[in-house]
Amino acid sequence: MHAADFKVKILGIVGTPIKDGNCQYLLEQALQVAESGGQATTELIHLKDYRIEYCIGCEMCLRRVHKVQKEVGYHVVPVPVEEYNCSIKDDMRVIHEKMLDADAILLAAPVYIATIPGQVKTFIDRCRTFVHDFRLRGKVAAPLTVAFYRNAGEDTALQTMTLSLLAMGLTQVSFGASAVSTREGMGIPIRETRFAVKEDLVGMTMMNMAATQVVQAAVQMKAGKLALEEAGITFQTAGWAPPQ
Ligand SMILES: Cc1cc2nc3c(=O)[nH]c(=O)nc-3n(C[C@H](O)[C@H](O)[C@H](O)COP(=O)(O)O)c2cc1C
Repeated sequence: MHAADFKVKILGIVGTPIKDGNCQYLLEQALQVAESGGQATTELIHLKDYRIEYCIGCEMCLRRVHKVQKEVGYHVVPVPVEEYNCSIKDDMRVIHEKMLDADAILLAAPVYIATIPGQVKTFIDRCRTFVHDFRLRGKVAAPLTVAFYRNAGEDTALQTMTLSLLAMGLTQVSFGASAVSTREGMGIPIRETRFAVKEDLVGMTMMNMAATQVVQAAVQMKAGKLALEEAGITFQTAGWAPPQ
């Protein structure tokens, strides 16, 4: 095998109403770090560029997953459902395809009232199929956040994204990174630059660590998958089925 066989795709998703803001900048830097070792290609998508409706709770995705499980058996992981498994026909189809195609996902969102903005929660809710079909298993992830003040909701935002990424079946390999967009995180905007996050050395260091961890883990995960494939080892579950 060659180094090219272990190259990974990293998808950066940023969710904020602001284009070209601090959060996007932090994610762009993280993707640059990820690419710098030559083992990753990256793509950044901005949720603002996509039409994403609220989840309507119809449970169509869940019913389709259960239908396929009944047909193929509960031991089959991931569940071989059709590519896009949501009843709402909007741009989530494109985002699901990109997520399924990636080896790793970096999710970036600013702190809004001590947690993530609504746009990001809406995106997360629309990923429910992955909670049940396990199609994102074996991919790695980490969250990134930016806030005005230091310690003013960053942990909650990171935890919310962490639990959501884990629920979707992703393997989160870093607790992520938080940065501030004001001088020293004291809430004083830095007039000369729109990207005040640049001056947050603590935040940029954490971002660097998170991005490095993600790319390393993604390459290791890919190498492991290829090795298992070569050895003819497929993953089997105990085949537990819910009571009918
Ligand atoms: C509605 C709203 C709520 C916010 N809530 C918080 C907050 O709870 N804590 C905080 O430190 N910053 C808060 N902020 C500030 C943003 O997190 C900060 O400006 C961040 O840099 C935004 O990212 P951006 O530069 O990419 O737009 C809030 C901003 C908005 C618009």
